[in-house]
Amino acid sequence: MDNAATSFPKPREVSDAMVAYARELGASPGRGAYREVTETAKILQRCRERLSELLGGPAADHVIFTLNTTDALSMAINGIVTTRLLNGRRAHLITTDLDHNSVLRPFKLLEERYQEQVTVSRMACDPESGMVDPEDIKQALEPDTALVAVAHGSNATGTLQPVEAIGAICRDADVPFLVDAAQTAGHRPIDMKRMQIDLLAVPGHKGLLGPLGTGALLMEQGMEELVAPTRVGGTGNLSESDSHPDTMPERYEAGSHNAIGLVGLDAALGWILDRSVDRLASHEIELSELMLEGLLDMPGIRLLGPTRIEDRCSVFTFVHRDLEASEVARELETQHGILCRSGLHCAPFAHQTFGTDPITAGSDGREPGACRISLGPFLGREDIEFTLNAIRALDQRTALVANQGATSP
Ligand SMILES: Cc1ncc(COP(=O)(O)O)c(C=O)c1O
Repeated sequence: MDNAATSFPKPREVSDAMVAYARELGASPGRGAYREVTETAKILQRCRERLSELLGGPAADHVIFTLNTTDALSMAINGIVTTRLLNGRRAHLITTDLDHNSVLRPFKLLEERYQEQVTVSRMACDPESGMVDPEDIKQALEPDTALVAVAHGSNATGTLQPVEAIGAICRDADVPFLVDAAQTAGHRPIDMKRMQIDLLAVPGHKGLLGPLGTGALLMEQGMEELVAPTRVGGTGNLSESDSHPDTMPERYEAGSHNAIGLVGLDAALGWILDRSVDRLASHEIELSELMLEGLLDMPGIRLLGPTRIEDRCSVFTFVHRDLEASEVARELETQHGILCRSGLHCAPFAHQTFGTDPITAGSDGREPGACRISLGPFLGREDIEFTLNAIRALDQRTALVANQGATSP
């Protein structure tokens, strides 16, 4: 129940492919010309093609491998700002209160480092649903706006943002649109073209079911002119030159690849494509409906984020009336073997929006944060019912204690 951190389990095909690579290939693509190198390079090429197919993305050479989502977001954000500053222009950056620290922190660092040239606007979100109003983003655009970055699905509340509407506004204004799909890639259909997304950051290790240490930045054609490379070095091509090559994808991929991880990701993508994201999403939506109804029905539970299933991804965060989030997580683990994540979820302003931040929550002595359950494709209805029963039992037990307390002298 902690698939939002990283998915578990993975399809059997993932570890099989990684073991086969480790035993039979073990080569570094682009380094040498022997059979094992070309075989590994072919698998990585197929992995790029599969990512693009799955996400409605650009040509495979515009699919850049990264370490994770954070790395992909940093590559895009730092690259865009570097190009602006090199051209002697200011960079105004827009994001939302529900975004993750992997957008907020690079924005803040750039703002502090380049005080005169870089400014940030953070859009407030609805305190009930967590949604941003695309009109607010439109109003916030300035002539110097260099980038709009939005998390498709919130890891703190499960809120799905209206990325299609924001994409249309950005395209109209000719401002690059960066989407953080950490919580949606593989969980919900994404089509970069239809959603007018210019830059898409995805983890390989969450909903795409690959191993940790994998991720990608998908760049629409032409984005390479706006995104300066921020990591340069050996690429295995054009080695006669000490200038970093402009060829794609090497422009952004310096150093040896995480080949074993990418081989695993490729196998995971094959597994997903065989079933289709639509089918996996409808299974998760069915489970999410069950979870949503169950949680909304418990009097002692405050669910954060949207109450309509169509506004949510597969992330459910809640606060218990009496118990601290860490106690809930501990009880779920020790009494029921359910693994979830409690605390603050790397999204400080999301917690402020919902009153679960250290200042608001801490003011009455309560521990800040919330308890998060997140779904994946290997769960079934029985797992959701089991989890709901466990939370319900906790809720009823504390209600009983509270009632006994009220009637005792
Ligand atoms: C919305 C969001 N963005 C970014 C990240 C960072 O992802 P990664 O761990 O792949 O760097 C996460 C991780 O949980 C996330 O939920």
